[in-house]
Amino acid sequence: MRLGDISRVAIIGAGTMGAGIGLCFAHAGYDVILQDVLDDQIEKALDRIERSQKVFIQELVFSEASAKAATERISVTKSLEEALDGVQLVLEVIPENLKLKQALFGQMEAFCATDTILATNTSGLSIASIASACIRPERVAGMHWVNPPELVPLVEVIRGEKTADETVNLIFGIAEKLGKMPIIIQKEMPGFAMNRLQFAALREALHLVEAGVVTPEDADKAMSYGVGFRYPWLGPLKTADLGGLDVFHSVASYLFSDLNAMKSPPESLNRLVEGGKLGIKTGKGFYDYEKESSEEILRKRDLYFLRQWKLIRDIQQS
Ligand SMILES: NC(=O)c1ccc[n+]([C@@H]2O[C@H](COP(=O)([O-])OP(=O)(O)OC[C@H]3O[C@@H](n4cnc5c(N)ncnc54)[C@H](O)[C@@H]3O)[C@@H](O)[C@H]2O)c1
Repeated sequence: MRLGDISRVAIIGAGTMGAGIGLCFAHAGYDVILQDVLDDQIEKALDRIERSQKVFIQELVFSEASAKAATERISVTKSLEEALDGVQLVLEVIPENLKLKQALFGQMEAFCATDTILATNTSGLSIASIASACIRPERVAGMHWVNPPELVPLVEVIRGEKTADETVNLIFGIAEKLGKMPIIIQKEMPGFAMNRLQFAALREALHLVEAGVVTPEDADKAMSYGVGFRYPWLGPLKTADLGGLDVFHSVASYLFSDLNAMKSPPESLNRLVEGGKLGIKTGKGFYDYEKESSEEILRKRDLYFLRQWKLIRDIQQS
């Protein structure tokens, strides 16, 4: 199969990630069929698509006409068989449960053409284990998006033990066609690349707060206005190159051995979770979210992400 042969895509699972991912495909001109087992999830997904489209129009990313055309390219169904009929790519976006994903992959091949590509948005389950349910594991790979998928540019393309080069290259090519910034995870490792980097920072932030070195607000500020402020443009390795590798080598020589290496979540996080303080969804976490509505907090976040991405694209193209 070639990249140009792919025109119809099925998204299986219309939850937090499925709707936004479907919208990205539709904006790139693909016909999208969004499938879920629950009616209300399908309805919520359509609402979410509508909300994202409004922001895109307001921020002049898409005209009203092209947003409308994209929405019209998305259809919905509860039937797996109908969803998979005539598609060249399937993206599984159902809950992070190996047994559930294996059962679905085992079922899907029966409804697909033999060369259909089957991708999974798993955050960290083994691609080889998911593909073990399939007769054609060479057509199975990871395509890991970041929330909110319609705004965050990174897509990790993960090669499983038996994934063919052609499958990896096709998914990478599709991600580029969607305007994303894909990377290839050449061999499986828990957390792939993004979550390993993210959780390394989270572990140190938790340690700094628990040791009384900084408040949660100041840990976040150190990231947002220091380390993270540079990361959208440079990343950690280019930051080191620009700062001087000799300097980074000297600091690494005394600091690496002092960085936190906890093997399980710390007390401070355990306490919050056990106390039902789960963050924005319960109104409290490290911060109090009761002063502003969660819709407003997420609206501001999305606007910020969109403008940041536009800025990066403008500078790259200048
Ligand atoms: N939420 C995130 O931030 C995020 C980020 C990256 C990757 N992921 C990964 O994406 C996947 C989905 O996560 P989510 O947050 O969108 O989950 P979610 O729970 O919001 O949505 C999952 C959807 O799948 C549906 N579903 C369950 N079983 C199904 C089946 N057999 N067939 C069709 N639909 C089915 C559910 O009804 C639900 O609507 C997971 O593997 C997760 O690890 C999530």
